[in-house]
Amino acid sequence: MARTPLIAGNWKMNLDHLQAVAFVQKLHWTLKDAKHEDGSVEVAVFPPFTDIRTVQTLLDADKIPFALGAQDLSAQDSGAYTGEVSGAFLSKLDCGYVIIGHSERRQYHGETDEVVAAKVQAALRHGIVPVICVGETLEQREESGPTAVSVEQLRVALAGLPADADVVIAYEPVWAIGTGQVASPEQAEEVCGALRAVIGEVLGADAAERTRILYGGSVKAANIAAFMREPDVDGALVGGASLLVDEFAAIIRYQKHVGV
Ligand code: 13P
Repeated sequence: MARTPLIAGNWKMNLDHLQAVAFVQKLHWTLKDAKHEDGSVEVAVFPPFTDIRTVQTLLDADKIPFALGAQDLSAQDSGAYTGEVSGAFLSKLDCGYVIIGHSERRQYHGETDEVVAAKVQAALRHGIVPVICVGETLEQREESGPTAVSVEQLRVALAGLPADADVVIAYEPVWAIGTGQVASPEQAEEVCGALRAVIGEVLGADAAERTRILYGGSVKAANIAAFMREPDVDGALVGGASLLVDEFAAIIRYQKHVGV
């Protein structure tokens, strides 16, 4: 079964709602000018919460074929949880995806594997595909090898899900995020292959075959093609480079330079 590649831009805490409009319009025009074929790759943007309504309206009005996602959601559905955002609200704003367990949330907001698992369940309750992030720090890699931490994080996140759960996995080694110290395609493949095996064990062979696994960490136009040649890498979760229109458009158009 062919998996549609997914190129996802995690804006993190960048671009207000006005800047978001300009950015999304420019990205759309750039891809049109380059005669990019819309169906070949799925494109998703993950703006801050305050931009989502604006971006949703723009995508809808201009028929821009990008998927929309949020960077986090609450494990709860409603109630006295000041500052939290419910999956129900995101779903009403046409968010098809939500990033869960990004290393910045694990690190700065104390999100444990159990919190991540609860948020995955919340996303699925509201029909939103969770983009489940896993990845090791440099110390963890040295201590327990390249795959152990990500494998364990994923096992906890997937526990108890039905076999037909629609999820995306993102392998983001912490040491490669925002550092310019990109993993090699072979390193990414080693972990993504191990993660696919975990999906197979927990959710079954069909899920392992259909679930997309992304690589994230210092992805750029110059290195995306090599990642995409790996059999278990189905796309990228892009941070810094997703804020630069030409660079992100070139990442989306990696099929034009796969042979480079
Ligand atoms: P960079 O692409 O800036 O390294 O960030 C990766 C990331 O954290 C995407 O979620």
